[in-house]
Amino acid sequence: MTRPPRVVLLASPATYRSGAFLAAARRLGLEAVQATDTPEVLAERWAMPLGLDFSRPEAAVAALAAYAEQHPIDAVLALDDSATMLAARAAAALGLPHNDPDAALAARDKWVMRQALRRGGVPVPEFRRYPLTADPQTVAGEIPFPVVLKPTTLSGSRGVIRADDRNAFVQAWERTRRIVLREGASPKNGELLVERYLPGVEVALEGLLTGGALQTLALFDKPDPLEGPFFEETIYVTPSRLPEATRAAISARTRAAAAALGLREGPVHAELRINDDGVWLIEMAGRSIGGLCSTVLEFGTGVSLEELILLHAVGRPLPSTERAGGAAGVMMIPIPKAGMLRGVSGIEDAMAVSGVTGVEITAPLNQPVVPLPEGASYLGFIFARDETPQRVEQALRLAHARLAFRIEPAINLVAVG
Ligand SMILES: Nc1ncnc2c1ncn2[C@@H]1O[C@H](COP(=O)(O)OP(=O)(O)O)[C@@H](O)[C@H]1O
Ligand SMILES: [Mg+2]
Repeated sequence: MTRPPRVVLLASPATYRSGAFLAAARRLGLEAVQATDTPEVLAERWAMPLGLDFSRPEAAVAALAAYAEQHPIDAVLALDDSATMLAARAAAALGLPHNDPDAALAARDKWVMRQALRRGGVPVPEFRRYPLTADPQTVAGEIPFPVVLKPTTLSGSRGVIRADDRNAFVQAWERTRRIVLREGASPKNGELLVERYLPGVEVALEGLLTGGALQTLALFDKPDPLEGPFFEETIYVTPSRLPEATRAAISARTRAAAAALGLREGPVHAELRINDDGVWLIEMAGRSIGGLCSTVLEFGTGVSLEELILLHAVGRPLPSTERAGGAAGVMMIPIPKAGMLRGVSGIEDAMAVSGVTGVEITAPLNQPVVPLPEGASYLGFIFARDETPQRVEQALRLAHARLAFRIEPAINLVAVG
Protein backbone atom coordinates (compact mmCIF):
# COMPACT_ATOMS: atom_id res chain seq x y z
CA MET A 1 0.00 0.00 0.00
CA THR A 2 1.38 3.41 -0.84
CA ARG A 3 1.36 5.90 2.00
CA PRO A 4 -0.10 9.39 1.57
CA PRO A 5 2.46 12.13 0.91
CA ARG A 6 3.74 13.69 4.13
CA VAL A 7 4.10 17.48 4.32
CA VAL A 8 5.81 19.27 7.18
CA LEU A 9 4.19 22.65 7.92
CA LEU A 10 6.58 25.12 9.55
CA ALA A 11 5.19 28.17 11.36
CA SER A 12 5.51 30.37 14.40
CA PRO A 13 3.11 29.59 17.26
CA ALA A 14 1.40 32.95 16.59
CA THR A 15 0.45 32.04 13.02
CA TYR A 16 -3.11 32.41 11.78
CA ARG A 17 -2.35 30.05 8.90
CA SER A 18 -2.30 26.51 10.34
CA GLY A 19 -6.05 25.89 10.29
CA ALA A 20 -6.44 26.55 6.56
CA PHE A 21 -3.44 24.39 5.65
CA LEU A 22 -4.52 21.51 7.90
CA ALA A 23 -8.01 21.59 6.41
CA ALA A 24 -6.57 21.62 2.88
CA ALA A 25 -4.27 18.68 3.67
CA ARG A 26 -7.23 16.73 5.02
CA ARG A 27 -9.26 17.40 1.87
CA LEU A 28 -6.37 16.28 -0.31
CA GLY A 29 -5.63 13.16 1.73
CA LEU A 30 -2.12 14.34 2.64
CA GLU A 31 -0.50 13.74 5.98
CA ALA A 32 0.33 17.11 7.51
CA VAL A 33 2.86 17.30 10.34
CA GLN A 34 2.92 20.62 12.17
CA ALA A 35 6.23 21.91 13.39
CA THR A 36 5.90 25.19 15.24
CA ASP A 37 8.84 27.19 16.45
CA THR A 38 9.37 25.94 20.00
CA PRO A 39 12.32 26.27 22.38
CA GLU A 40 13.98 22.85 22.72
CA VAL A 41 13.23 22.42 26.44
CA LEU A 42 9.51 22.92 25.86
CA ALA A 43 9.46 20.57 22.88
CA GLU A 44 10.89 17.86 25.14
CA ARG A 45 8.62 18.63 28.06
CA TRP A 46 5.52 18.55 25.89
CA ALA A 47 6.76 15.46 24.03
CA MET A 48 6.07 17.16 20.71
CA PRO A 49 6.50 14.86 17.72
CA LEU A 50 8.49 17.52 15.95
CA GLY A 51 9.52 20.47 18.11
CA LEU A 52 11.94 22.72 16.25
CA ASP A 53 13.77 25.79 17.47
CA PHE A 54 13.81 28.09 14.43
CA SER A 55 16.46 30.29 16.01
CA ARG A 56 18.89 27.34 15.76
CA PRO A 57 18.46 26.36 12.10
CA GLU A 58 21.28 23.80 11.99
CA ALA A 59 19.87 21.83 14.90
CA ALA A 60 16.36 22.20 13.45
CA VAL A 61 17.45 20.85 10.06
CA ALA A 62 19.21 17.93 11.78
CA ALA A 63 16.07 17.19 13.82
CA LEU A 64 13.97 17.20 10.65
CA ALA A 65 16.43 14.90 8.90
CA ALA A 66 16.36 12.48 11.85
CA TYR A 67 12.57 12.56 11.86
CA ALA A 68 12.52 11.93 8.11
CA GLU A 69 14.45 8.67 8.55
CA GLN A 70 11.49 7.21 10.41
CA HIS A 71 8.81 9.24 8.65
CA PRO A 72 9.74 10.03 5.05
CA ILE A 73 9.00 13.68 4.23
CA ASP A 74 7.72 14.66 0.78
CA ALA A 75 7.61 18.43 1.22
CA VAL A 76 8.51 21.13 3.72
CA LEU A 77 6.35 24.22 3.60
CA ALA A 78 6.72 27.58 5.36
CA LEU A 79 3.40 29.01 6.46
CA ASP A 80 4.78 32.37 7.56
CA ASP A 81 7.84 34.61 7.46
CA SER A 82 9.41 33.01 10.52
CA ALA A 83 9.76 29.73 8.65
CA THR A 84 10.79 30.55 5.07
CA MET A 85 14.53 30.34 5.61
CA LEU A 86 14.37 27.15 7.63
CA ALA A 87 12.06 25.58 5.02
CA ALA A 88 14.59 26.32 2.26
CA ARG A 89 17.47 24.86 4.24
CA ALA A 90 15.53 21.82 5.38
CA ALA A 91 14.21 21.03 1.89
CA ALA A 92 17.75 21.37 0.53
CA ALA A 93 19.07 18.94 3.16
CA LEU A 94 16.27 16.45 2.43
CA GLY A 95 16.79 16.63 -1.33
CA LEU A 96 13.33 18.11 -1.96
CA PRO A 97 12.49 20.83 -4.50
CA HIS A 98 13.13 24.13 -2.78
CA ASN A 99 14.12 27.74 -2.97
CA ASP A 100 17.80 28.54 -2.71
CA PRO A 101 18.44 29.53 0.93
CA ASP A 102 20.03 32.76 -0.36
CA ALA A 103 16.80 33.55 -2.21
CA ALA A 104 14.83 32.81 0.94
CA LEU A 105 17.01 35.31 2.79
CA ALA A 106 16.50 37.91 0.06
CA ALA A 107 12.74 37.50 0.47
CA ARG A 108 13.03 37.85 4.23
CA ASP A 109 15.53 40.60 4.95
CA LYS A 110 14.44 43.94 3.52
CA TRP A 111 18.00 45.22 3.13
CA VAL A 112 19.13 42.13 1.24
CA MET A 113 15.90 42.34 -0.79
CA ARG A 114 16.36 45.98 -1.79
CA GLN A 115 19.90 45.28 -3.01
CA ALA A 116 18.87 42.17 -4.97
CA LEU A 117 15.95 43.99 -6.58
CA ARG A 118 18.10 46.94 -7.56
CA ARG A 119 20.75 44.59 -9.01
CA GLY A 120 18.00 42.85 -10.95
CA GLY A 121 16.72 46.12 -12.41
CA VAL A 122 13.44 46.12 -10.48
CA PRO A 123 12.37 49.66 -9.53
CA VAL A 124 12.63 50.27 -5.78
CA PRO A 125 12.71 53.51 -3.78
CA GLU A 126 16.12 54.88 -2.84
CA PHE A 127 17.21 53.19 0.35
CA ARG A 128 19.95 53.30 2.96
CA ARG A 129 20.79 51.13 5.91
CA TYR A 130 21.91 52.51 9.26
CA PRO A 131 23.16 50.77 12.41
CA LEU A 132 20.98 51.10 15.51
CA THR A 133 23.93 52.92 17.07
CA ALA A 134 23.64 55.77 14.52
CA ASP A 135 22.62 59.21 15.74
CA PRO A 136 19.18 59.92 14.25
CA GLN A 137 19.89 63.69 14.17
CA THR A 138 22.86 63.04 11.91
CA VAL A 139 20.92 60.56 9.77
CA ALA A 140 18.12 63.11 9.41
CA GLY A 141 20.60 65.53 7.89
CA GLU A 142 21.56 63.02 5.17
CA ILE A 143 18.21 61.93 3.79
CA PRO A 144 15.62 63.47 1.45
CA PHE A 145 12.17 63.71 3.11
CA PRO A 146 9.57 62.25 3.15
CA VAL A 147 10.99 58.86 4.15
CA VAL A 148 9.80 55.56 5.56
CA LEU A 149 11.77 54.05 8.39
CA LYS A 150 11.49 50.29 8.83
CA PRO A 151 12.97 47.25 10.55
CA THR A 152 14.72 44.80 8.24
CA THR A 153 13.00 41.58 9.33
CA LEU A 154 9.67 42.33 10.99
CA SER A 155 6.33 42.16 9.18
CA GLY A 156 2.73 43.35 9.35
CA SER A 157 3.91 47.00 9.23
CA ARG A 158 5.39 46.73 12.72
CA GLY A 159 7.82 49.56 13.27
CA VAL A 160 7.21 50.98 9.78
CA ILE A 161 6.84 54.77 10.19
CA ARG A 162 6.72 57.62 7.71
CA ALA A 163 8.57 60.80 8.62
CA ASP A 164 8.23 64.10 6.75
CA ASP A 165 10.83 66.13 8.60
CA ARG A 166 13.76 65.90 11.00
CA ASN A 167 11.74 66.04 14.19
CA ALA A 168 9.34 63.35 13.09
CA PHE A 169 12.28 61.25 11.94
CA VAL A 170 14.10 61.42 15.26
CA GLN A 171 10.91 60.40 17.08
CA ALA A 172 10.21 57.61 14.59
CA TRP A 173 13.78 56.37 14.97
CA GLU A 174 13.47 56.07 18.74
CA ARG A 175 10.16 54.29 18.44
CA THR A 176 11.24 51.77 15.80
CA ARG A 177 14.53 51.24 17.59
CA ARG A 178 12.67 50.27 20.77
CA ILE A 179 10.48 47.87 18.78
CA VAL A 180 13.36 46.01 17.15
CA LEU A 181 15.29 45.86 20.43
CA ARG A 182 12.28 44.33 22.13
CA GLU A 183 12.14 41.81 19.28
CA GLY A 184 15.66 40.72 20.09
CA ALA A 185 17.79 42.88 17.77
CA SER A 186 21.27 43.46 19.04
CA PRO A 187 21.86 47.07 20.17
CA LYS A 188 25.35 46.91 18.64
CA ASN A 189 24.68 45.00 15.41
CA GLY A 190 21.02 45.78 14.73
CA GLU A 191 20.07 48.01 11.83
CA LEU A 192 17.24 50.02 10.34
CA LEU A 193 16.29 50.75 6.76
CA VAL A 194 15.41 54.25 5.56
CA GLU A 195 13.64 54.56 2.22
CA ARG A 196 12.21 57.37 0.18
CA TYR A 197 8.45 57.52 0.65
CA LEU A 198 6.65 56.44 -2.53
CA PRO A 199 3.22 57.96 -3.06
CA GLY A 200 0.62 55.95 -4.94
CA VAL A 201 -1.95 53.21 -4.67
CA GLU A 202 -1.01 49.82 -3.29
CA VAL A 203 -1.84 46.28 -4.33
CA ALA A 204 -1.01 42.80 -3.07
CA LEU A 205 -0.32 39.97 -5.48
CA GLU A 206 -0.74 36.35 -4.54
CA GLY A 207 1.30 34.07 -6.78
CA LEU A 208 2.71 30.60 -7.15
CA LEU A 209 6.13 29.81 -8.60
CA THR A 210 6.90 26.58 -10.40
CA GLY A 211 10.46 26.20 -11.66
CA GLY A 212 10.76 29.99 -11.68
CA ALA A 213 7.53 30.56 -13.67
CA LEU A 214 4.99 32.77 -11.89
CA GLN A 215 1.27 32.21 -11.92
CA THR A 216 -0.74 35.16 -10.62
CA LEU A 217 -3.48 33.66 -8.48
CA ALA A 218 -5.08 36.85 -7.21
CA LEU A 219 -4.48 40.58 -7.27
CA PHE A 220 -5.94 42.62 -4.39
CA ASP A 221 -6.53 46.36 -4.31
CA LYS A 222 -6.00 48.07 -0.96
CA PRO A 223 -8.62 50.81 -1.21
CA ASP A 224 -7.82 52.54 2.10
CA PRO A 225 -5.14 55.20 1.62
CA LEU A 226 -1.80 54.04 2.99
CA GLU A 227 -0.08 57.35 3.56
CA GLY A 228 1.28 56.89 7.07
CA PRO A 229 2.63 57.74 9.51
CA PHE A 230 1.68 54.12 10.27
CA PHE A 231 0.60 51.62 7.64
CA GLU A 232 -2.32 49.69 8.95
CA GLU A 233 -3.48 46.87 6.68
CA THR A 234 -7.26 46.96 6.48
CA ILE A 235 -9.28 46.21 3.35
CA TYR A 236 -8.17 43.89 0.52
CA VAL A 237 -10.49 43.48 -2.46
CA THR A 238 -10.12 41.29 -5.54
CA PRO A 239 -10.33 41.47 -8.55
CA SER A 240 -8.35 44.66 -8.84
CA ARG A 241 -10.14 47.65 -10.35
CA LEU A 242 -6.92 48.88 -11.98
CA PRO A 243 -6.83 48.93 -15.80
CA GLU A 244 -5.84 45.73 -17.58
CA ALA A 245 -2.51 47.18 -18.75
CA THR A 246 -1.57 48.15 -15.17
CA ARG A 247 -2.49 44.72 -13.89
CA ALA A 248 -0.32 43.13 -16.55
CA ALA A 249 2.55 45.44 -15.59
CA ILE A 250 2.12 44.42 -11.94
CA SER A 251 2.35 40.72 -12.82
CA ALA A 252 5.40 41.36 -14.99
CA ARG A 253 7.10 43.34 -12.19
CA THR A 254 6.38 40.61 -9.69
CA ARG A 255 7.84 38.01 -12.05
CA ALA A 256 10.97 40.15 -12.45
CA ALA A 257 11.19 40.56 -8.68
CA ALA A 258 11.03 36.80 -8.07
CA ALA A 259 13.79 36.33 -10.63
CA ALA A 260 15.90 39.09 -9.05
CA LEU A 261 15.56 37.49 -5.62
CA GLY A 262 16.16 34.00 -7.02
CA LEU A 263 12.84 32.59 -5.79
CA ARG A 264 11.73 29.64 -7.94
CA GLU A 265 9.27 27.45 -6.06
CA GLY A 266 6.14 27.88 -4.02
CA PRO A 267 3.88 30.70 -2.90
CA VAL A 268 4.82 34.36 -3.09
CA HIS A 269 3.08 37.36 -1.62
CA ALA A 270 4.13 40.67 -3.15
CA GLU A 271 3.19 44.25 -2.35
CA LEU A 272 3.57 46.92 -4.99
CA ARG A 273 2.89 50.64 -5.32
CA ILE A 274 1.73 52.27 -8.51
CA ASN A 275 2.15 55.95 -9.35
CA ASP A 276 2.87 58.16 -12.37
CA ASP A 277 6.46 56.94 -12.40
CA GLY A 278 5.52 53.30 -12.72
CA VAL A 279 5.11 50.10 -10.73
CA TRP A 280 7.38 49.74 -7.67
CA LEU A 281 8.13 46.77 -5.49
CA ILE A 282 7.48 47.39 -1.81
CA GLU A 283 8.32 43.83 -0.87
CA MET A 284 8.00 40.18 -1.79
CA ALA A 285 7.79 37.28 0.64
CA GLY A 286 8.18 33.56 -0.04
CA ARG A 287 4.90 32.62 1.62
CA SER A 288 1.19 33.02 1.05
CA ILE A 289 -1.02 35.87 2.26
CA GLY A 290 -1.18 36.27 6.05
CA GLY A 291 -3.96 36.36 8.59
CA LEU A 292 -7.21 34.69 7.64
CA CYS A 293 -7.34 36.61 4.34
CA SER A 294 -7.10 33.56 2.10
CA THR A 295 -10.55 32.50 3.33
CA VAL A 296 -12.06 34.64 0.54
CA LEU A 297 -10.07 32.98 -2.25
CA GLU A 298 -11.45 30.12 -4.28
CA PHE A 299 -10.14 28.62 -7.51
CA GLY A 300 -11.62 26.51 -10.29
CA THR A 301 -14.35 24.38 -8.80
CA GLY A 302 -13.99 25.37 -5.15
CA VAL A 303 -10.30 24.70 -4.55
CA SER A 304 -8.62 26.75 -1.80
CA LEU A 305 -5.34 28.63 -2.03
CA GLU A 306 -3.83 26.23 0.49
CA GLU A 307 -4.85 23.23 -1.62
CA LEU A 308 -3.06 24.71 -4.65
CA ILE A 309 0.05 25.36 -2.56
CA LEU A 310 0.03 21.84 -1.09
CA LEU A 311 -0.53 20.21 -4.49
CA HIS A 312 2.40 22.17 -5.87
CA ALA A 313 4.54 21.23 -2.85
CA VAL A 314 4.02 17.49 -3.34
CA GLY A 315 4.49 17.76 -7.10
CA ARG A 316 0.95 16.92 -8.11
CA PRO A 317 -0.66 18.52 -11.15
CA LEU A 318 -2.62 21.66 -10.37
CA PRO A 319 -6.31 21.97 -11.19
CA SER A 320 -7.55 25.29 -12.60
CA THR A 321 -5.91 28.28 -10.92
CA GLU A 322 -8.59 30.62 -12.27
CA ARG A 323 -10.09 32.54 -9.37
CA ALA A 324 -13.78 31.75 -8.91
CA GLY A 325 -16.70 33.12 -6.93
CA GLY A 326 -17.01 36.73 -8.14
CA ALA A 327 -15.59 39.70 -6.31
CA ALA A 328 -14.31 39.06 -2.80
CA GLY A 329 -12.68 40.95 -0.01
CA VAL A 330 -11.48 40.89 3.54
CA MET A 331 -10.97 43.51 6.19
CA MET A 332 -8.31 42.99 8.80
CA ILE A 333 -9.83 44.81 11.75
CA PRO A 334 -7.16 47.09 13.13
CA ILE A 335 -6.66 47.75 16.83
CA PRO A 336 -7.80 51.37 17.35
CA LYS A 337 -6.09 51.94 20.71
CA ALA A 338 -4.07 50.21 23.39
CA GLY A 339 -5.82 48.68 26.36
CA MET A 340 -7.65 45.63 27.58
CA LEU A 341 -10.21 44.18 25.19
CA ARG A 342 -13.32 43.81 27.35
CA GLY A 343 -16.12 43.27 24.89
CA VAL A 344 -17.23 43.06 21.27
CA SER A 345 -20.74 43.83 20.10
CA GLY A 346 -22.58 44.17 16.81
CA ILE A 347 -21.37 40.90 15.30
CA GLU A 348 -24.85 39.82 14.27
CA ASP A 349 -25.59 43.22 12.76
CA ALA A 350 -22.32 43.08 10.86
CA MET A 351 -23.10 39.57 9.62
CA ALA A 352 -26.47 40.82 8.41
CA VAL A 353 -24.88 43.27 5.95
CA SER A 354 -25.61 42.13 2.41
CA GLY A 355 -22.50 40.53 0.92
CA VAL A 356 -20.82 39.79 4.24
CA THR A 357 -19.95 36.09 4.46
CA GLY A 358 -18.23 36.00 7.82
CA VAL A 359 -17.01 37.93 10.84
CA GLU A 360 -14.31 36.35 12.91
CA ILE A 361 -13.04 38.01 16.06
CA THR A 362 -9.61 36.55 16.75
CA ALA A 363 -8.41 38.74 19.65
CA PRO A 364 -9.17 37.04 22.96
CA LEU A 365 -11.25 38.95 25.49
CA ASN A 366 -9.63 40.25 28.67
CA GLN A 367 -6.23 40.36 27.05
CA PRO A 368 -4.21 43.44 26.17
CA VAL A 369 -4.45 44.75 22.62
CA VAL A 370 -1.65 46.85 21.13
CA PRO A 371 -2.09 49.00 18.00
CA LEU A 372 0.54 49.71 15.35
CA PRO A 373 3.34 50.44 15.09
CA GLU A 374 4.11 48.21 18.10
CA GLY A 375 1.30 45.67 17.80
CA ALA A 376 1.45 42.41 15.88
CA SER A 377 -2.15 41.29 15.57
CA TYR A 378 -5.68 42.25 14.55
CA LEU A 379 -8.99 42.30 16.37
CA GLY A 380 -10.35 39.98 13.73
CA PHE A 381 -11.49 39.68 10.13
CA ILE A 382 -14.57 40.52 8.07
CA PHE A 383 -15.15 38.59 4.84
CA ALA A 384 -17.39 39.58 1.93
CA ARG A 385 -18.42 38.49 -1.53
CA ASP A 386 -20.55 40.28 -4.05
CA GLU A 387 -20.97 40.99 -7.73
CA THR A 388 -18.49 43.84 -7.90
CA PRO A 389 -15.40 44.97 -6.01
CA GLN A 390 -17.23 48.25 -5.19
CA ARG A 391 -20.02 46.39 -3.45
CA VAL A 392 -17.55 44.18 -1.58
CA GLU A 393 -15.69 47.22 -0.31
CA GLN A 394 -18.94 48.88 0.72
CA ALA A 395 -20.09 45.75 2.57
CA LEU A 396 -16.82 45.53 4.50
CA ARG A 397 -17.00 49.19 5.54
CA LEU A 398 -20.61 48.93 6.62
CA ALA A 399 -20.00 45.75 8.60
CA HIS A 400 -16.98 47.31 10.31
CA ALA A 401 -19.05 50.36 11.28
CA ARG A 402 -21.55 48.06 12.97
CA LEU A 403 -18.94 46.45 15.20
CA ALA A 404 -18.07 48.02 18.53
CA PHE A 405 -15.02 47.08 20.57
CA ARG A 406 -14.82 47.98 24.25
CA ILE A 407 -11.18 48.61 25.04
CA GLU A 408 -10.47 49.81 28.57
CA PRO A 409 -7.28 51.36 29.82
CA ALA A 410 -5.07 48.57 31.09
CA ILE A 411 -3.18 48.99 34.30
CA ASN A 412 0.26 47.35 34.35
CA LEU A 413 0.26 47.10 30.59
CA VAL A 414 3.78 46.99 29.21
CA ALA A 415 4.75 50.50 28.11
CA VAL A 416 4.14 50.77 24.41
CA GLY A 417 4.88 54.41 23.71
N1 LIG B 1 9.12 53.26 0.61
C1 LIG B 1 7.82 53.27 0.92
N2 LIG B 1 7.00 54.24 0.42
C2 LIG B 1 5.68 54.27 0.74
N3 LIG B 1 5.09 53.40 1.55
C3 LIG B 1 5.84 52.40 2.07
C4 LIG B 1 7.22 52.27 1.78
N4 LIG B 1 7.71 51.21 2.44
C5 LIG B 1 6.66 50.68 3.11
N5 LIG B 1 5.53 51.39 2.90
C6 LIG B 1 4.20 51.12 3.46
O1 LIG B 1 4.33 50.39 4.66
C7 LIG B 1 3.75 49.10 4.54
C8 LIG B 1 4.59 48.09 5.30
O2 LIG B 1 5.91 48.10 4.81
P1 LIG B 1 6.65 46.77 4.36
O3 LIG B 1 7.96 47.16 3.81
O4 LIG B 1 5.75 45.98 3.50
O5 LIG B 1 6.90 46.03 5.76
P2 LIG B 1 6.12 44.79 6.45
O6 LIG B 1 7.01 43.63 6.22
O7 LIG B 1 6.03 45.18 7.87
O8 LIG B 1 4.80 44.62 5.76
C9 LIG B 1 3.67 48.85 3.05
O9 LIG B 1 2.63 47.96 2.73
C10 LIG B 1 3.41 50.25 2.52
O10 LIG B 1 2.04 50.60 2.63
MG1 LIG C 1 4.55 44.32 3.80
